Amino acid sequence: MRPGSSTLQSDMTMNSRKIATVLAVTMLVIGACGGGGGVAVPTPQTIPDINTYPPLANDAAPGASTSAVATAAAIGRGVNFGNMLEAPTEGAWGLTVTDDFIDKAAAAGFTSIRLPVRWSNHASGEAPFTIDAAFMQRVESVIDKLLAKGVVVVLNMHHYRQLDGDQPDAGELAVADAAVDVRFVMLWEQLAAHFQGRSSRLVFELYNEPHGRLNGEPWNVLAARALRVVRKTNPDRVVVIGPTSWNNASDLSLLKMPNDSNLIATVHNYAPFSFTHQGAEWVSPVLPVGVTCCSATQEAEMTAPLDGAKAWAAAKRYPMYVGEFGAYSKADDTSRIDFNRKMRQAMEGRGMSWSYWEFAAGFGVYDPLKLSFRQGLLVSLLGR
Ligand code: BGC
Repeated sequence: MRPGSSTLQSDMTMNSRKIATVLAVTMLVIGACGGGGGVAVPTPQTIPDINTYPPLANDAAPGASTSAVATAAAIGRGVNFGNMLEAPTEGAWGLTVTDDFIDKAAAAGFTSIRLPVRWSNHASGEAPFTIDAAFMQRVESVIDKLLAKGVVVVLNMHHYRQLDGDQPDAGELAVADAAVDVRFVMLWEQLAAHFQGRSSRLVFELYNEPHGRLNGEPWNVLAARALRVVRKTNPDRVVVIGPTSWNNASDLSLLKMPNDSNLIATVHNYAPFSFTHQGAEWVSPVLPVGVTCCSATQEAEMTAPLDGAKAWAAAKRYPMYVGEFGAYSKADDTSRIDFNRKMRQAMEGRGMSWSYWEFAAGFGVYDPLKLSFRQGLLVSLLGR
């Protein structure tokens, strides 16, 4: 969750977009006048029209199938393999997915792994936006090792910065404005086709924490376009969709589930933010450290979004999955342990499956240097 995105950042995004547009137009003009001698000149027509990917209707969502309900239950108690495959490139944030992580996560008793992946930095910027074959193979090998352990794998798309209107990260590929949305749909077209033969324990999550330019209705339409494409090759696979404002439960009132029963809804819950994100370098301004947890007031902040999510799930008849919660390691361990235990009980008491953020980085339940779990955190999550 990154609610600290500032006006300055939006201005910079606007400016870089304007510059990109001017550059693209200039290149077209140069190409057109330069007598390119057979050299392919990019034209705006090379970007497919988003309307060739019409959305699924979302006026009569039927509620969940028994298989979606069963899959949500099977997700159970999960953990995010965060800061690995959703870094600009794997390893850039200090972690790669290792066999040790896979073995230990499954052996500890996590029943699902949420796998955040930055597909947008491993695909062409030009239509048909082909995903890099080596990267596809790498993610596929991780998925297959995880599936072989018997866990559910929630494969998502994470940090496609331009999709939210955010500035790309340093060194990240930027694409033409007109390509951003259709590229998202066409990335899913490739992923869905590629993984169509996999076990039903592979679940797709369309997009992590939609926000910014996607807020509200734009996301409803884009998600429905992507789901229609996924359904061409994966008619029954369970797909996870969450609301805007960073999967905030308060935006569930804006979320329209497509007319499809093989769906699970998701929210993220980092309340109380002053506790979970104290000292987090990516939040601006950085929040003061020294905040403990969990007083009755803080517990009420934790459970209020869950109550809202539970009421929405009951009304819409889709199961609810808390895909991220956790407290950064700048908080004291006793408080983090108390927070995790209370969150687990609150989520499970409301019939929700969950995934802790995250395995081995700044929130890590596992110490990648000692190659062992942080026992207090592990027990707070898995109850042993
Ligand atoms: C983001 C991470 C961040 C975490 C907690 C996730 O959704 O992808 O980069 O560390 O939320 O803020």
